[in-house]
Amino acid sequence: MDQKTEFCGAGLQPQPPAQEPERQYYFIERCRRHTEEFEKRHGRKPKACVFNMGCQMNARDSEKLSGILASAGYELSDSEEADLVVYNTCTVRENANNKVWGRLGYLNAYKKKHPHMKIALCGCMMQEPGVVRRLQESYRFVDLVFGTHNIYKFAELLDTAFEQDGMVVDIWEDAGEIVEDLPAERKYPFKSGVNIMFGCDNFCSYCIVPYVRGRERSRSPKDIIREVGRLAADGVVEVMLLGQNVNSYGKNLEEPVTFAELLTEIEKVEGIERIRFMTSHPKDLSDELIRTMARSKKICRHLHLPLQSGSSRILKAMNRHYDKEQYLSLVRKIREEMPDIALTTDIIVGFPGETEEDFLETVDVVKRVGFDSAFTFLYSKRTGTSAASMEGQVPDGVAKERFSRLLEEVQRASSKRAGALVGQVAPVLAEEVNEQDASLVTGRMGNNYIVHFPGTKDLVGKIVPVRLRECKGFYFYGEAACTHI
Ligand code: SAH
Ligand code: SF4
Ligand code: F3S
Repeated sequence: MDQKTEFCGAGLQPQPPAQEPERQYYFIERCRRHTEEFEKRHGRKPKACVFNMGCQMNARDSEKLSGILASAGYELSDSEEADLVVYNTCTVRENANNKVWGRLGYLNAYKKKHPHMKIALCGCMMQEPGVVRRLQESYRFVDLVFGTHNIYKFAELLDTAFEQDGMVVDIWEDAGEIVEDLPAERKYPFKSGVNIMFGCDNFCSYCIVPYVRGRERSRSPKDIIREVGRLAADGVVEVMLLGQNVNSYGKNLEEPVTFAELLTEIEKVEGIERIRFMTSHPKDLSDELIRTMARSKKICRHLHLPLQSGSSRILKAMNRHYDKEQYLSLVRKIREEMPDIALTTDIIVGFPGETEEDFLETVDVVKRVGFDSAFTFLYSKRTGTSAASMEGQVPDGVAKERFSRLLEEVQRASSKRAGALVGQVAPVLAEEVNEQDASLVTGRMGNNYIVHFPGTKDLVGKIVPVRLRECKGFYFYGEAACTHI
């Protein structure tokens, strides 16, 4: 029997609706027919593994992919020994790409023994032209390849991959509409990421994100509040608002809204107890945002404020639109309003043209600010970015040596900051039973520090006052305190 007739007979319209998200719900239903078929044949549900390789935005996308798969009848699994494996890739640094090529080798071997298996690749790396070409030439065992702009079409594409032999490739150069109201399967029942914007317009000279994620687009405040409300009703107490540069949220909306105004609205949602966000670009961080954070009871006292370099000369070449002094005075202003705030950052070492003097400027900022923690990266040349063709690429050995010196400074500064918190009682959101020691639960303070303390699994998802007893660098051991805080 022709597949289409069969679907018709089972109650689906012969033609998919043109409107989204209705169209995708139609294809979820069609995928469900495939999974039911599988279940009849194998006596079990098919297993799907969505493997996330990127940032928090990718992680949220993976939850959406998982939501679609769960609705289509898949059993979700963490193991790549599954009937469907989806790699949601990242390409921010070269090593992210290498990881994908490496793992594909293993998947190929597994698929040879399990020929019914399907492999799908999506995410930022797929938006790079050379990648798709290489897949088509040498990785023919991959069934489905799609990008960042059409991720909402996953059900439709998966259905095509079931119906059609050979690799299905669908990559869009530009972003289309923002499709709301598709299912998502959260990793944690009590906390969730919420996209507030997509893409990036900043074109920092080293960064590939604007090329693979497209231009900046903000979701409407109404859609965001509705999603946060639904999450709260579903037991979520902490939301993380996600965007490449949340401080420029809302600028391009028909009725512009500032990020601080959005935060004020989200704060009103009952049931939400903690609000986090990332990432904040220093050039767009407003006084209004600092005031809003300072008077809020729900916005966490943590700001991730990527520095990238402490040298004004390098910052200019990076196209960051602030210099060393501006960064330092921003930090002063933030700490005046919120002395207890935790500041974390990202730093790149070995940007083209970086001299020892430039590097020492970075170390100087690290010493002066005293970050609570910092992600440090070796500069990675990304084809297509303007830094890739800059002169003065720093030799690997020099960059690596600077990197270890920087790491030492960062660790010194952060253990001093963390050490000063010992003895305090802080609210901790218990996130999971400790993997190494089941008598402990592991949670996070508002300032994002991790705390392990004696407790049982019924605490997970609850905010508990904890006395910090011992500092281990970037995490603490504590014990539940009875004190009211
Ligand atoms: N939108 C965020 C960062 C997104 S990428 C921001 O503007 O801060 C996360 C981090 O990866 C960046 O902050 C930067 O430190 C690092 N990064 C980006 N491109 C890189 C490259 N080519 N080499 C090394 N690190 C890079
Ligand atoms: Fe990349 Fe800069 Fe955009 Fe961040 S702000 S995503 S570093 S271009
Ligand atoms: Fe994130 Fe990597 Fe893409 S950092 S936006 S997953 S390139």
